[in-house]
Parts: sequence; structure tokens; C-alpha cells
Amino acid sequence: PAVEYGLEAPFSIEYHDSVGSTNERARALAVEGRADVAVLADEQTGGRGRLEREWASPSGGVWVSVVTRPEISPSRAPLFTLAASVATARAAREASVDARIKWPNDVVVPVGESGEYRKLAGALTEMEGETDRIEWLVVGVGINANLDQEALPDGATSIREEAGDVDRRRFVQRLLEEFDRYRNDLEGVVSAWRELTLTLGQRVRVDRPAGEVIGEAVDVTGNGALVVESDDERVVVSAGDCEHLRPI
Ligand code: BTN
Repeated sequence: PAVEYGLEAPFSIEYHDSVGSTNERARALAVEGRADVAVLADEQTGGRGRLEREWASPSGGVWVSVVTRPEISPSRAPLFTLAASVATARAAREASVDARIKWPNDVVVPVGESGEYRKLAGALTEMEGETDRIEWLVVGVGINANLDQEALPDGATSIREEAGDVDRRRFVQRLLEEFDRYRNDLEGVVSAWRELTLTLGQRVRVDRPAGEVIGEAVDVTGNGALVVESDDERVVVSAGDCEHLRPI
């Protein structure tokens, strides 16, 4: 059952020791008409990632989903995902982790100067609405917080591994405060994102349903799409179309 979490956050908090998926629970609240609520869990038994992937969510992580009802067009929704990534990276940096962002929504930690990185957190946004108006938006973020390496998938890291355990209440508080700030400043999201990203300037390969794009990641648009420049053209890739991005 949901219990008091004891935070002075800009969202009301519904906390579960264990839940299937905080995104699922947040969707149910959204459908009931709720707004500005954050669903938190110590453990998820059916955590979901992007593209129908499973998301390992053992006890000790931070699994959180926020319900909002922004008055924006659906084409701007990816900015909410960027806002969540920026908020997560900033909260992790305050916890002494060298967190950076890999477009569109991964928070990663570079491994030395090698150009490689490990994944610390990811975001999953779901929404309902018309073509010109969003009804509700659920932004879920999963952060490998106080977890041992053995509990993590390949290629992942945790706050514990990078910098030692974090006070999860404080971390969630800062995450929600930063998310609240950027959801009210969608123009500022892209510049905050630019400061933290690893992706711009990299040569990348992006897999999309329409085929792969190879080139230099040169910019993000005002709506959070990635601009990739290849030999003879510039391709704009929306977050929803990105199946996989890797530096080459
Ligand atoms: C990804 O990188 O694929 C996105 C992962 C998103 C995981 C979070 S954990 C909280 C919320 N509930 C879920 O089931 N998924 C998101």
C-alpha cells in the first residue's frame, strides 16, 4: 500500500515498497484525472524500459513516475523527457557522480577518457491526447541508486558504485525540484541539456524504423530532436524514432 514518504516536494508523493511498475500506477492515476503526483517505489516487479524492454528494478534503486497535464502540443512532449534527464543528471552530480546525458534519455557515466560509458538511469515517457493537445503525460525515471554491480545489467553502473550510497529522499527531492523547474522553462531545457550531453560533436550511428543514419550529431532542435549531419544531408531524428544510438 501507498504510505507517506515525508518529502516537501513540488508533487504529492505516493510511495510503495513494491509495485509492478510506477509508470503503470501513474497511468492509472492520470486516467482518473490526477496531476502533479509522483509515484515512487523501492522495488518494481515489472519495470519497463523503452521499446518494450524489461527494466531491472530491485530494492535500493529510485523508481519514480510523475503525472503531469501540461498545456503543450504533443510535438513538445520530448522536452519533458529531456527535462527528466537533465533533472536526474543534476541530482546525480550533486551526489558526486560524473553524470552526463546520452541523447535522448539516458543518463550515463563516462569510463575514463575512453569514450565509453555506463548507464546510470533512463526515462520512459507515455502520453494520451489529441494531435494538438496533451491530455496527460507520465514521465518515469529509473535510477540505479544504492545497488551493487551484481544487481545491475551489463553496461550499467550505480550511484553506489560511482560515489557511495545516496540519501534517496534527498535525491528524489532534488530530482523533483529540478524537474519542476525545467517543465516550467521548456526553453531552458535544451540549453541545460547541451551543457550535460556527451552526444553533441560525436560521430554516431542511429537505428530507426526508416533505416540507419550515420554522421556527426551536430545539434538538437527546439523540440528535442537530434540533428545528424552526414556527407550530403542533415537528418532530424525524433526521440520516438531512435531504436538505438551509439558513438562510432
Ligand atoms: C529506458 O532507458 O529504457 C527507460 C527506463 C525507464 C525505467 C523507469 S523505472 C520507473 C518507471 N517505471 C517503469 O516501469 N519504467 C520507468
